[in-house]
Amino acid sequence: MGPREPEPGSGRSLLVTGIRELATCDSTLGDGSLLGIVRDAAFVADADGLVAWVGSAKDAPVADERLDVGGRAVVPGFVDSHTHLVFAGDRSAEFAARMAGERYTGGGIMTTVAATRAASDEELRASAQTRFAEMRASGTTTVEIKSGYGLNVETEVRILRIARAFTRETTFLGAHVVPPEYANDRAAYVDLVCGEMLEACFKYVRWVDVFCDEGAFTADETRAVLRAGAQAAKLLHLHGNQLGYGPAAQIAAEFAVSSLDHCTYLTDDDVAALRDAGVVATLLPGAEFSTRSPYPDARRLLEAGVTVALATDCNPGSSYVTSMPLMIALAVREMHMTPAEALFAATTGSALALERTDIGRLSPGARADFAVLDAPSHLHLAYRPGSNLVHQTWVGGIQHEPSS
Ligand code: NIG
Ligand code: FE
Repeated sequence: MGPREPEPGSGRSLLVTGIRELATCDSTLGDGSLLGIVRDAAFVADADGLVAWVGSAKDAPVADERLDVGGRAVVPGFVDSHTHLVFAGDRSAEFAARMAGERYTGGGIMTTVAATRAASDEELRASAQTRFAEMRASGTTTVEIKSGYGLNVETEVRILRIARAFTRETTFLGAHVVPPEYANDRAAYVDLVCGEMLEACFKYVRWVDVFCDEGAFTADETRAVLRAGAQAAKLLHLHGNQLGYGPAAQIAAEFAVSSLDHCTYLTDDDVAALRDAGVVATLLPGAEFSTRSPYPDARRLLEAGVTVALATDCNPGSSYVTSMPLMIALAVREMHMTPAEALFAATTGSALALERTDIGRLSPGARADFAVLDAPSHLHLAYRPGSNLVHQTWVGGIQHEPSS
């Protein structure tokens, strides 16, 4: 299986027309709103799979191929900027215990580590493929994938080699938790992560991440791993402030990481620090939904001027979810984001969390990644949770085959 973020372009240009509502996520287009809505729209993807023209269907130029979407809405493909897609094992019993009142602590991570270490490459690849296909079918066109369920050199490398076949947005998360074999020598584990493990994973990743929270890594340990990541010329993001107030947001600002992910417990100073350092706040409402925890305060972040992203956090413990439309619905229903803010956060916002401007919008120059909705408007994404409204998913001007 080759890389699944394909080289864009079919070699033939494509006119997409018959679009009742096109959300470009470019406010210089259409109605000038956050979503840059164009009604009765069309656009052209060139032979290289890039958007070449956007406008009213009546002004559309000709192209080699034509797709009439029959009055449906079209939105940019979703960017799922935070997932742990490659893992083995099952934690449904842990979920049931939580629903009966137990608190989520991250303690189940080692259950997944044990299952993942024991799984073959083929098992890991096949289960990741199944989840990846679900994502594509629900409109996700770019996915980030983290390691962190290996926690030894061999398994971290295996996870990342497999992840690399699905995306180039891969992240080394050796600093997920300290595995039990290092419980009495945390410093030795941090040294391993910063040294031999990072070196072995180096060629498979674009990103380095740390889980800086209660029961995971301390402020000093987090800084050590981020320093090693920066020295290795990797981009940085950080998991933090999920389980309680803590130093992650200030460290995120100090290192000017691309995004701080979770952001459930933030002080006013934390919010100001994220804004001043230009750190994207990635919200993962699937985690609060599946752990029955309080949701992050999205309104406070937006009103402070912080860029907000949405992602699924797909993992077997805190958020076994593959659907970005569900994240949009939760963001609107539970976090008081408007449907427009939520769609923007799930596309442009999460592209920015990945330092990407070539995806997450449908305007000239961007990759022609889009979802055709079985709905007249993007509002239905939040209005009709639980139905898969994605009729077709296109990546780089090429339609995703539902079976792959
Ligand atoms: O992003 N926060 C840390 N890691 C994952 C959960 C891991 C697990 O419980 O397996 C998360 O929520
Ligand atoms: Fe996560």
